Amino acid sequence: MVSERIEELRRQLEYHNFRYYVENAPEISDFEFDALMRELQDLEREHPELADPNSPSVRVGSDLTAEFRTVRHRFPMLSLGNTYSLEELHEFIERIEREVGAAEYVCELKFDGTAISLTYEHGRLLRAVTRGDGTQGDDVTANVRTIRTVPLRLQGDDWPDFFEIRGEILMPYASFDRLNAEREAAGEALFANPRNAAAGTLKQQSSAVVARRGLDCTLYQVAGDDLPFATHRESLEKARAWGFRISEHLRVCRSAQEIDDFIAHWDEARRSLPFPTDGVVIKVDDFALRRQLGFTAKSPRWAVAYKFKAEQALTLLESVDFQVGRTGAVTPVANLAPVLLAGTTVRRATLHNAEQMALLDIRPGDTVYVEKGGEIIPKITGVELSLRPADSRPFQYIDRCPECGTPLVRYEGEAKHYCPNQSGCRPQIIGRIIHFIRRKAMNIEGLGEETVELLYENGLLHDISDLYDLQPPQLACLPRLGEKSAENIIRSIRRSTEVPFRRTLFGLGIRFVGETTAKYLADHFRSLDALIRATREELVEADEVGDKIADAILEYFADAENLRIIERLRAAGVRFEAEARELESETLSGRSFVISGKFRNRSRDELKELIERNGGRNLAAVSGSVDFLVAGDNMGPAKLKKAEKLGIRIISEEEFEAMLAGGTPPPDPASAETPQASAQGELF
Ligand code: IVH
Repeated sequence: MVSERIEELRRQLEYHNFRYYVENAPEISDFEFDALMRELQDLEREHPELADPNSPSVRVGSDLTAEFRTVRHRFPMLSLGNTYSLEELHEFIERIEREVGAAEYVCELKFDGTAISLTYEHGRLLRAVTRGDGTQGDDVTANVRTIRTVPLRLQGDDWPDFFEIRGEILMPYASFDRLNAEREAAGEALFANPRNAAAGTLKQQSSAVVARRGLDCTLYQVAGDDLPFATHRESLEKARAWGFRISEHLRVCRSAQEIDDFIAHWDEARRSLPFPTDGVVIKVDDFALRRQLGFTAKSPRWAVAYKFKAEQALTLLESVDFQVGRTGAVTPVANLAPVLLAGTTVRRATLHNAEQMALLDIRPGDTVYVEKGGEIIPKITGVELSLRPADSRPFQYIDRCPECGTPLVRYEGEAKHYCPNQSGCRPQIIGRIIHFIRRKAMNIEGLGEETVELLYENGLLHDISDLYDLQPPQLACLPRLGEKSAENIIRSIRRSTEVPFRRTLFGLGIRFVGETTAKYLADHFRSLDALIRATREELVEADEVGDKIADAILEYFADAENLRIIERLRAAGVRFEAEARELESETLSGRSFVISGKFRNRSRDELKELIERNGGRNLAAVSGSVDFLVAGDNMGPAKLKKAEKLGIRIISEEEFEAMLAGGTPPPDPASAETPQASAQGELF
């Protein structure tokens, strides 16, 4: 019987998948696995009527566009209270002991990915939903099915018929490095860290892309009604037996000292883990005690997260390079003796500018501290003076462009030095072209940095307008480019004339005109000609445009060479006029927002776009005309204070999402209600 064979193949493949990906102990060779998979795929193709969304063959994903339906969580997904000091942690333990007496704690790693809730029915994966605002999230089941460590059907048979299990979707460093290397080669924007990459990947439209990106999933909490466990430990052991990946790095601790030891161990040992962690979670083990302890509005009172301090590494400064960017700005970059930091090997770190170097008093031969912030490039935070060579001398900053020899200049109020030789300095020329073809600008695919350099070297590309004169044969004869890719590139260049005006404007690379400013300018002036004609007074009337930006715009259009390039682009059909606006909804109309800090579920750009598409206005600075400040993590205290002073309503990402979904804005002022979790609602 075909249906029996299909069933048998699915069962076997799922079991071997589990042995391979979860247990790291394969029983059959890759070859045998592939043969079984091929047999299954063939049978499924011949018998579409026997399709099953949980067949192991779905792990490769599909190109069908996923719709992310919003789903309400049966139990709210709460967050955890954070502490950064052992003292606060000890106060947490003292409070627990005061309230319920001695307790056992399970210490776990705090995985730095994006939270997920998986629902299983009759032992099969039914749904995977993101945390969202804690009350409702996005249905990302099709994407999650491609993650090999997520069981599609469970092992054994003693699982509850219906339950949820929660954990973290992670991107291991190896996947992250590979992904960013690919994106860099393709000239695409890099992900700042594995957490953003994991969250971004989960929201991909194509599950085939997700399948290739190498996500992982670790679970840490079982949820459901009347679950048959008395302790957290027991629930995790069971979950492990059902085929879930549960962290091996758990420890039951009975005293503050044991917890401190676990933290001290992992603060160091996490450096050799293959995935990112940002702390330790300490949870009361016993469910009866958990029930007694209950919840606050936002988080359980029986658990706390201890956050690690940003990782630092000490290494030798070997030399300093000076990079010239597309605007001519010079950035000193340190070459370091390779050192392992937060899971990746660091060889370079930014030193920002001359002032910063002087402030650090960094000298040749120094041993320096490197740290990774949220950004892609690590930074140097200090010098270990005890290791400084006795004969060291202060650094001499350069006064000529390292690329073209032109004397550097410093503009009023700017920390960086600039090379003013815009039209003759190689990295500026190439940098402007690279910027122009970026995804967020003209989105010209297939042309990476290397190809642009090659075209420049071969005299085919001097400025952005030359792109539109390129012919396939000119590209096809370059090394590494065949006829096919040459044609694809040309097609992509032709297609780029259709990108909206705001992106063309951004692509021109006018100093200080980033993506958002370009959008405001496009909205305000509606055409490039109007912008070219605008006076200083007219320019500053546009949202977000101040003196600095206005001057940069005037300077750009005063340059005859820039005007010549623009005319050639116009002749090539590039869009220099805005099209009529299309709105998704008017939900936010008449409301203006400032987005600040880091957000859990969406990038700042995504939030800004949502605001625009739903009729709201984005403002960059807190002022009297702002209605809402959407506050993420690590927001500057000054901004917060100013907003409070002005009586601006401060809302969380979740509250914003609720507003967007048509909810009413939280009451004035900041003391907003957060989603209330009922004690029985949240787990145990
Ligand atoms: S337990 C009631 N355990 O941290 C909340 N969370 O700030 C139960 N996280 O949203 C969460 N590792 O995304 C728990 N071992 C771990 C965790 C963990 C990472 C994340 C999770 C949660 C956030 C809470």
